[in-house]
Amino acid sequence: MTFTLPNPPYSHDALAPHMSKETLEYHHDKHHQAYVTNGNNAIKGTEFEGKSLEEIVKGSFGKNPAVFNNAGQHYNHLHFWNWMKPNGGGSIPGELEKAIVEGIGSVDQMKTDFIAAGTTQFGSGWAWLAVKDGKVVVMKTPNGESPLVHGATPILGVDVWEHSYYIDYRNRRPDYLKAFVDNLVNWEYVAK
Ligand code: FE2
Repeated sequence: MTFTLPNPPYSHDALAPHMSKETLEYHHDKHHQAYVTNGNNAIKGTEFEGKSLEEIVKGSFGKNPAVFNNAGQHYNHLHFWNWMKPNGGGSIPGELEKAIVEGIGSVDQMKTDFIAAGTTQFGSGWAWLAVKDGKVVVMKTPNGESPLVHGATPILGVDVWEHSYYIDYRNRRPDYLKAFVDNLVNWEYVAK
């Protein structure tokens, strides 16, 4: 497949003040665009031409870093824009809440663990809610990796690369993660 960059499902200023228009202009329009452009160039002439995005991410992990880094980040960011919405972070749909309580103990514990995972991910990476062996778990991964390449299915991810928060929060990564959980998460998309 050829990667393309869809617009987020809201305007660039719709997530402010928790995530600014300027952050979206850099993060979506420049950083995500670069993963799309560089990914398409890296895939040209390889075995990955014509494969689905998930097949490319899984197939290139540990084998072709140029393809994996860009395809992995393209996959992560495609969902990241949809995992947020204006006035997000409200109540969690019942079925999902039940699965979170079964897997992690409580919604509050999940939020605490998720923020801790993002805070303690050393350097660039992501914190996740994922489904592993039928259970909801919290994970963290470096760089462009995701639960997909660690035997799990990601259902929520937060980007903790500095390009995701430095304009709005400078070095205050925990404040960014708290704002993400309290005000940005689109729990309906997570449930889906
Ligand atoms: Fe990013």
